[in-house]
Amino acid sequence: METVLSGIRPTGNLHLGNYFGALRNFVKMQDENNCFFFIADYHSLTTHPTPEDLHANVKQVLSEYLACGLDPEKSTLYIQSDLPETAELYLLLNMNAYIGELERCTSFKEKIRKQPENINAGLLTYPTLMAADILIHKSHKVPVGKDQEQHLEMSRTFARRFNRLYKTDYFPEPQAYNFGNDLVKIPGLDGSGKMGKSEGEGNAIFLADAPDVIRKKVMRAVTDAGPTEPGQIKSETVENLFSLMSVMSAPDTFTYFEEQYNNCKIRYGDMKKQLAEDIIVFVEPIRQKIEEISADNAYLHKVAKMGSEKARASGGKTLKEVREIIGFRKF
Ligand code: TYM
Repeated sequence: METVLSGIRPTGNLHLGNYFGALRNFVKMQDENNCFFFIADYHSLTTHPTPEDLHANVKQVLSEYLACGLDPEKSTLYIQSDLPETAELYLLLNMNAYIGELERCTSFKEKIRKQPENINAGLLTYPTLMAADILIHKSHKVPVGKDQEQHLEMSRTFARRFNRLYKTDYFPEPQAYNFGNDLVKIPGLDGSGKMGKSEGEGNAIFLADAPDVIRKKVMRAVTDAGPTEPGQIKSETVENLFSLMSVMSAPDTFTYFEEQYNNCKIRYGDMKKQLAEDIIVFVEPIRQKIEEISADNAYLHKVAKMGSEKARASGGKTLKEVREIIGFRKF
C-alpha cells in the first residue's frame, strides 16, 4: 500500500485551487492508500500571524478538510505542530540542504520580490520543512498543484542525498501527484493567472463562500472586448475563465461556450452566469457542512487528538530509525 500525503497552509479559507490541486478524488484515494492530510501551521508562521488568527485559521482548515469528505477514521488528519518530530527531521535535513539551492528556489525568489521587508530564514528553508513533512511518513505520492512541483523536486533531492550519504535506501523518492491527472493550476478571477488566498479581493472562490458572494465574484471576473474573427486566439483572462469552466461545468456546457466564442457570438455575461451557478452547485453543500462542523468544537477536538496520535505513531517510528541511521545511538 502506498503512502499519500497532502498539506495545506492555514493562512485563510480553502479555495477552489486548493481543492482541485490537492484534494480532488481523495475520497476514493483514502480507501486505497495510507493517507495523511495535515495542516501546515509551522509553515504559516513565516507570515507572522497573531495567535488568535493562527488558531482560528487552523480550526477553519480542519473543518474544511472534514467538510470536503475526508474521513478521519480512514486517513490520518493532523496538525503539523502536533507532530514535533517534523521539526527535528527538518533540523537534520537542513544540515544537507545547501544555501545556493535554497536561494535558487522560485518561490523564495518570488518572496524576495513581493515582501522584501520580511525575508526570514523560515522562508529560505521552507522546502526543507516541506521535505520533512513528506519524508517523516516516508510518503510515495504527494497530491499538489503545479505551483508545488519544484518543492517536490527538492524533496526528492533531499531524500536521495540522505540515502546516498548514509548508504541506505531508507527514504522513497516522493512524486508530485494529482490523482492520475496532470498537475493543475486553477486560475484566479482577476486575470492574475493563479487562484490564491493572498492574491487580493475577488481573485479566489472559497469553499466557504455563500451563493451571492460567488455570483458577485464571477460576474466581476476580468474578460476582454470579445472576439472579432472566427477562431481568434483567446486573451489570457478569457482563457482563464474557460479553464475554470472546464473544471467546474459539464463538458457540453464548456463545448457550447467554446463554440460561441469561436463563431464570435459569445456573451461573456451569459458564460459567467452559467459558470457561477455551476460553481454554486459544487460549493454550496460543502459550505453548509463547513458551518455545521466548525460549530462542533467537541468533534474537532476529538479529530485533532486522534490525528495527532496516529501521526506520532508513524512519524515517531521514522524519526527513531533516522536517528539510528545517522548515528545517534544509545550507549
Ligand atoms: P498552499 O497552502 O499554498 O496550497 C495548498 C495546496 O493547494 C494547491 N494550490 C493550487 N492548486 C492548483 N491551482 C491553484 N490555483 C492552487 N493554489 C494552491 C497547492 O499546490 C497545494 O497543493 N507548501 C504548501 C503546503 C505544504 C505541503 C507540505 C504540501 C507544506 N508541507 C508537504 C504538500 C506536502 C503550500 O504552501 O500549499
